[in-house]
Amino acid sequence: MSEGTISRRALLVGLGVAGGAGAMYAAMGALGLAPDRHEDDYAPPQRSDFALRGKAAAKVVILGAGIAGLATAYELGKAGYDCTVLEARDRVGGRSFTIRGGDKITELGGETQEARFGEGVYFNAGPARIAQWMLTLDYCRELGVPVEVFVNDNPNGYTFNSGMKAPVRTRMARADTYGYMSELLAKATNAGTLDKMVTSADREVLLDFVSEFGGLSDDGVYRGTSRRGYRTDPGVDAGTSPGPLPPMSEVLRYGLGRTVAFPFDYDQAMPMFQPVGGMDSLANKLADAVGRDRIQTSTQVTKITNLPDGVEVVHGGGSVKADYCVAAMPPHILARTSGNLDARVVAALRTPTPLSAGKIGLEYRRRWWETDERIYGGITETDMDISHIWYPSYGFNGVQGLVVGYYNLNADADSYAAMKHADRERRAIQQGIRVHGDKYRTELLSSVSIAWRKQPHIEGAWVGWPSYGAEFTLLQEPAGRVYFAGDWLTHLIAWQAGALDSARKVVTQLHQRVLKEG
Ligand code: ALA
Repeated sequence: MSEGTISRRALLVGLGVAGGAGAMYAAMGALGLAPDRHEDDYAPPQRSDFALRGKAAAKVVILGAGIAGLATAYELGKAGYDCTVLEARDRVGGRSFTIRGGDKITELGGETQEARFGEGVYFNAGPARIAQWMLTLDYCRELGVPVEVFVNDNPNGYTFNSGMKAPVRTRMARADTYGYMSELLAKATNAGTLDKMVTSADREVLLDFVSEFGGLSDDGVYRGTSRRGYRTDPGVDAGTSPGPLPPMSEVLRYGLGRTVAFPFDYDQAMPMFQPVGGMDSLANKLADAVGRDRIQTSTQVTKITNLPDGVEVVHGGGSVKADYCVAAMPPHILARTSGNLDARVVAALRTPTPLSAGKIGLEYRRRWWETDERIYGGITETDMDISHIWYPSYGFNGVQGLVVGYYNLNADADSYAAMKHADRERRAIQQGIRVHGDKYRTELLSSVSIAWRKQPHIEGAWVGWPSYGAEFTLLQEPAGRVYFAGDWLTHLIAWQAGALDSARKVVTQLHQRVLKEG
């Protein structure tokens, strides 16, 4: 057989037999079938990089002990750079903030909450989920942070929108929505409505697809299937029906269009992961690897000055001089920090807008969502201002547990941010009762809420760029001896993976410069 006639598949199968999986995988890469991981291109700086060049590792001051700042110090530390990390808050991690019993959360405006959660209960107030392709998992592996599955999609959760009389299980909402939509498409196809767009051969394929996808009867009508679930589950008995199939117009009111694509999203598709014991374990392991003695917490930066041969950073307790600086702080806070950064740089730092998000952690004395409602992790979707209810992905079948009673953005988050904690809790509970009934109030033990715009030294959940334009590009380069790092400088805003990728980029730039210039 000549090379021209052999099929791709036959070629791969042949190689799999003859050359083993490695040869097959390499060939897949050559044919463009194996995934490319650009992260694999990253080469961490090493001490030996300096050996033949007569250069030495420099002193670097890093502003911010969030994920970007810590990862910068960690990576530079691999080559022996002398790093000092200045952090304005009293702990490392930035937005990677896990709240446990005894923690105090003070907001701009002065209100302080003290978490009263029991032993083993935690609340990831910031990042809470990691997609399997994200660099975050590579750092968890490298640093020995154990991870477990984060349940990001659960058909046993509910869908509840204002147009509905009562919440329905998401599995039922999906089954009925897909069923009716498929029936419509089958009818349109059979009536010849699509004939100009679909060939007769494709027509059969399309009909097969919608029949399977929607669970249609042989006559192309949707009558409901076991995908809708049961009132009592099957066992020795056959199980009982969850109730009659509602008419199509009622099913359309489920408004599934708003949420149906969520589990398809590249960054939200299952399986997703979380560190065991709380998201902050990644920041903590990074900080341990950097060396806690190199990190100064409760140290607010007030001035950043580029000097001819270095950088001076003034902070609450004094000042630090270094060869280079990596500013891994929120751009809106950097923009108002004094110093001699070029006016164009300051204008660029002002360009992204800080955005709002809020969450409340509701601790319950018993895991009623598991025992009474068979919901093991996942999300209920609503169009109320709580947006979502998240069920915990840890502690399954345990005693207590923590539900995220709202995770909302923008105007909804702002309206909760404007309330005192007690009012946030009251409002979240009122809405949750509409989904889960009175136990949502009676079983509550304690709660903590976060309004990211009101978190000191952070002042935002994340930022949005009006466009990835000239300002974004400008800040990818150093301003004199000051480099910028953070998720806000990536196309992965609001993900720790963005912070990590940005840190790697800056570390590479800085190391190359030091190897060249010293
Ligand atoms: N990365 C954030 C989330 O998954 C926005 O909710």
